[in-house]
Amino acid sequence: MEENKNNAMPSEEQEWDFSTFDDAAEHAREVEIMEEQSREDQALPPDPDAILEVRHLKKYFTLKKTITGKPLSSLKAVDDVSFKIKRGETLGIVGESGCGKTTMGRTILNLYHPTSGQVFFEGTDVAGFNSAQMRPLRTKMQIVFQDPYSSLPPRSTVGGILAEAAKIHKIVPKSELKDYVLSVMDKCGLRDYYYERYPHEFSGGQRQRICIARALVVNPSFIVCDEPVSALDVSIQAQIINLLRKLQKERHLTYLFISHDLSVVKHISDKIGVMYLGSMMEYGDKKRIFDNPLHPYTQALFSAVPNPNPDEKVERILLSGDIPSPANPPMGCKFHTRCPRAMEICSHIAPVYKEYEEGHFVACHCYPQED
Ligand SMILES: Nc1ncnc2c1ncn2[C@@H]1O[C@H](COP(=O)(O)OP(=O)(O)OP(=O)(O)O)[C@@H](O)[C@H]1O
Ligand code: SF4
Ligand SMILES: [Mg+2]
Repeated sequence: MEENKNNAMPSEEQEWDFSTFDDAAEHAREVEIMEEQSREDQALPPDPDAILEVRHLKKYFTLKKTITGKPLSSLKAVDDVSFKIKRGETLGIVGESGCGKTTMGRTILNLYHPTSGQVFFEGTDVAGFNSAQMRPLRTKMQIVFQDPYSSLPPRSTVGGILAEAAKIHKIVPKSELKDYVLSVMDKCGLRDYYYERYPHEFSGGQRQRICIARALVVNPSFIVCDEPVSALDVSIQAQIINLLRKLQKERHLTYLFISHDLSVVKHISDKIGVMYLGSMMEYGDKKRIFDNPLHPYTQALFSAVPNPNPDEKVERILLSGDIPSPANPPMGCKFHTRCPRAMEICSHIAPVYKEYEEGHFVACHCYPQED
């Protein structure tokens, strides 16, 4: 057994014999390789073309602690995620409920402190920033939440909510505040007489416009949109998406757009990231990912989208089994318990997240793992 531990990888000429694998040792070796890769990447300068560059980001929630406060078990909500977004682009993040989309968005904004990893925003690594260091960046990095009902203070008027945000961050002189707020409201399709009204007087779509105006009023360059249309009727969804696109063009905004609705993501995104159990399974240009999804999980997700062309038959790939718990993810490839293409290697060794073709990354043993 000891011999296997020290020599767990057979040479290229040898047959793979998985019966000899010691999973714990293999896992420890994988972690070591990942950490080494992370250390190597850490030293690299940020990409000057990217407004946001995320490297090996992890966010683990501690579930159990010892009486001295040492973590005993944790939930890997975001587990070694890396990607870049260029200014003016939209990265759509998709994946089933609980795969870590919201946690990733919040960790990027430092609303959750990252467990480890780097988050370069406009060239500066903000991952280790405390709240005082983050304060000047709060205007530049904003978030729009899913639920427009609970995310607005009920006792303030629309004008009050928007003016307060602009006032705190000293966006314009006090004398110009009202005119400025009215101009932002106008951009978001809100009539000027709404200024004196309260959030409960509005519909869901109008409230989401107010939330977008609140994000916009501090003049951000990057907005995390966390399921911004999921709580709205389909007809209203289109209006809000169109508003986000119009504002993006006018202000050269960059969005991280989280949604479980693939048709919405397809409509608004330039790039797509597909997450499963806290990990990025595939990432790349929208066209490449939709025309040629490489990862079996992406293929299964996309096969569930109704095709508007009745002549094109798309075979639905049904995934068996439930999503495993992120507190106890499967060894090897996290998707192997549900993957229709799983091989023996998949349950032992995690595939490397690699650039398969320019700008198209995938983590799967079906694609070359070596450089
Ligand atoms: N504060 C927290 N403490 C402990 N676990 C958390 C916390 N927040 C989220 N989680 C867990 O982290 C995992 C990822 O949750 P997250 O909300 O990021 O998923 P999601 O992809 O946004 O899901 P949904 O599509 O349902 O919004 C889940 O298992 C969730 O239970
Ligand atoms: S690595 Fe294996 S289990 Fe994972 S997605 Fe690829 S084929 Fe499926
Ligand atoms: Mg969420």
